Amino acid sequence: MKRIFVTGGAGYIGSHVVKALGERGCEVLTYDNLSTGHAEAVLHGDLVRGDLADGTLLRETLRGFRPDAVIHFAAHIEVAESVADPLKYYRNNTLNALNLWEALRELKLSNVIFSSTAAVYGIPEHNPVTEDTPLAPINPYGASKMMSERVLADLDASAPDFNYVALRYFNVAGADPQGRIGQKYRNATHLITRALKTAKGEYDRLQVFGSDYPTPDGTCIRDYIHVDDLAAAHLAALDHLIAGRGSAVFNCGYGHGYSVNEVVAVAKRVTGIDFRVEEAPRRAGDPPALVADSRRLRAATGWQPRHDDLEFIVRTAWDWEKRLG
Ligand code: UFG
Repeated sequence: MKRIFVTGGAGYIGSHVVKALGERGCEVLTYDNLSTGHAEAVLHGDLVRGDLADGTLLRETLRGFRPDAVIHFAAHIEVAESVADPLKYYRNNTLNALNLWEALRELKLSNVIFSSTAAVYGIPEHNPVTEDTPLAPINPYGASKMMSERVLADLDASAPDFNYVALRYFNVAGADPQGRIGQKYRNATHLITRALKTAKGEYDRLQVFGSDYPTPDGTCIRDYIHVDDLAAAHLAALDHLIAGRGSAVFNCGYGHGYSVNEVVAVAKRVTGIDFRVEEAPRRAGDPPALVADSRRLRAATGWQPRHDDLEFIVRTAWDWEKRLG
């Protein structure tokens, strides 16, 4: 049985990974300040309410738990907010993360899984995007994650006993098929959540940001991955580290994408509600297409998606939305 320390385990993706670790029989300790997470989303193990900024509490909690691996989710994640308030992002996502890396080095702990993002690529020239594509983030959110990746790579180079896997998430969506956890974010800006909340009547219309992109139907293409498949990618990364296969960077996506219009059509079909949709101007900073080349993850770890089905993704998200009331 492995002992896994999870920062941000009460959040959307973190809670699905904690669930998967519990199903695997791991002993889990979640460290979360509950600023956007929810204690009841932690389905397995204990929760310490703590902030990454509190280096002392972080170190003492790690010292007491002595994990075999650490999965670091805790971060701010809104692109638009990062543009408006970049220091908030560099402070939390880059600087506070240093407290974690320092504590790990001090306690001689290794095996880190880091939540990174496709936002590190900015507007890539080619799709699907491989991990070797030059990093060129176009917003502070992506830059704050890129900097942490760089710190981890430098640590890896300096300390032979230190290993990490950075997972670059594409568009994560969907919810626990059993309906226990899902996205519960006050200010959801993501397309699928937004479309479903419109179907529920929380918004009077869904805006489609840009219909003049160089894509087949003119709307942006994204690679939507079910959150449980992403959770399984974390378990695969964990096995990779614990087997001593060394540090790595992996894209997490299915390798094909859907346009905004296609997502809207599926949302209407799944909900049975013909909600109002309106063409709107492009949103700043949106690349026309962003699709993962995930061959490296598959080849190195044997990871295979189980829910590569947009309808399933939207249905689980819809079931969860209805539960939220
Ligand atoms: N969109 C709309 N209307 C909406 C919401 C979104 O048309 O109401 C469009 C966006 O313009 C975009 C697509 O739907 O073309 C997907 O947008 P999301 O906001 O759902 O997701 P993003 O692709 O912008 O962002 C995701 C992650 C980020 C990550 C980024 C990498 O949420 O954390 O991918 O580019 F940084």
